[in-house]
Amino acid sequence: MANPMHALLQAWRRRWWQPDPAALEAFAGLTPMTVVTGGSEGIGLELARRFAAAGHDVMLVARRAEPLRQAAHGLRAESKATVVVVPADVTAPDAIATIEAALAAHGAYADVLVNSAGMGLSGPFHAHPPDDVVRLIDLNVRALSLLTRHFLPGMRQRGRGGILNVASLGGYAPGPNQAAYYASKAYVLSLTEAVAAETAGEGVRVCALAPGPVNTAFHARMGAEKAFYRLLVPPASAQSVARAGYRGFVLGLRVTVPGLFNPLLALAMRIMPHRIVIPIIGWLLRPREDERRNV
Ligand SMILES: NC(=O)c1ccc[n+]([C@@H]2O[C@H](COP(=O)([O-])OP(=O)(O)OC[C@H]3O[C@@H](n4cnc5c(N)ncnc54)[C@H](OP(=O)(O)O)[C@@H]3O)[C@@H](O)[C@H]2O)c1
Repeated sequence: MANPMHALLQAWRRRWWQPDPAALEAFAGLTPMTVVTGGSEGIGLELARRFAAAGHDVMLVARRAEPLRQAAHGLRAESKATVVVVPADVTAPDAIATIEAALAAHGAYADVLVNSAGMGLSGPFHAHPPDDVVRLIDLNVRALSLLTRHFLPGMRQRGRGGILNVASLGGYAPGPNQAAYYASKAYVLSLTEAVAAETAGEGVRVCALAPGPVNTAFHARMGAEKAFYRLLVPPASAQSVARAGYRGFVLGLRVTVPGLFNPLLALAMRIMPHRIVIPIIGWLLRPREDERRNV
């Protein structure tokens, strides 16, 4: 996007921003960084790639060190960005302190936060082990909320940057056979749109990305690889979803639903009676045989 357009957009975004010189001094001399949870693979990695290509330094956060190392190696080879890896579980009690310590060690602050780390659970809700339900809520809801709550005040003080939360098309309706997952993404959409409204005009973008099925290891991890939606709904590539998500973030769109038909589906899921929509979704999400649960 051309610079004058950028400047115009930023001026509009900052229309209510009150600069506080004392607060801004705390960030003087530090460099902005984009923190991407779930940045070692899938949609998170592709979003990190878009930010790095656009000149942002990036911090990739995920649990396993080796995929993180490989992801960082690839990003460094194809961009000039500084790429930092933080092997951490974002649901751990010390996750925010770990990320802050890594930012401080690199003389950086979180200019942009991308919450992409997420998990699903497939099958009827009553059959999920309670610990898995807790893990899903901890990751998709609790960690995302706490990271947003932690980094947003600094962004508001600086009047720039923002948060990109990866939600899902599934957030627009209840999803039998992925009930907790769909409910968690409804929370992400609701939280993001509400916080975006609260911070409008303060210079900060608060955006949600709501893709339909995407070709990543996500479905196999939750044991949904053989569900009907995997056969019947052609998945988007993580690259195309990240491209749309990054564009939506730059423009400050509150919700980006990538693809040609998915925005129509999102509309249909909102306006059609649940009595019609829910059985269709439930049928599409029904696992066809025993598969491996999320690891
Ligand atoms: N794929 C889809 O069809 C689809 C559609 C709509 C929305 N989404 C959403 O998009 C987001 C990304 O999905 P994806 O398909 O890219 O998933 P993915 O390929 O399974 O990648 C998940 C990423 O999150 C990391 N992660 C998982 N648990 C974590 C934890 N506790 N702490 C830190 N990092 C963790 C994983 O690395 P480690 O395992 O090493 O931690 C990995 O980097 C999720 O929020 C998902 O709900 C996906």
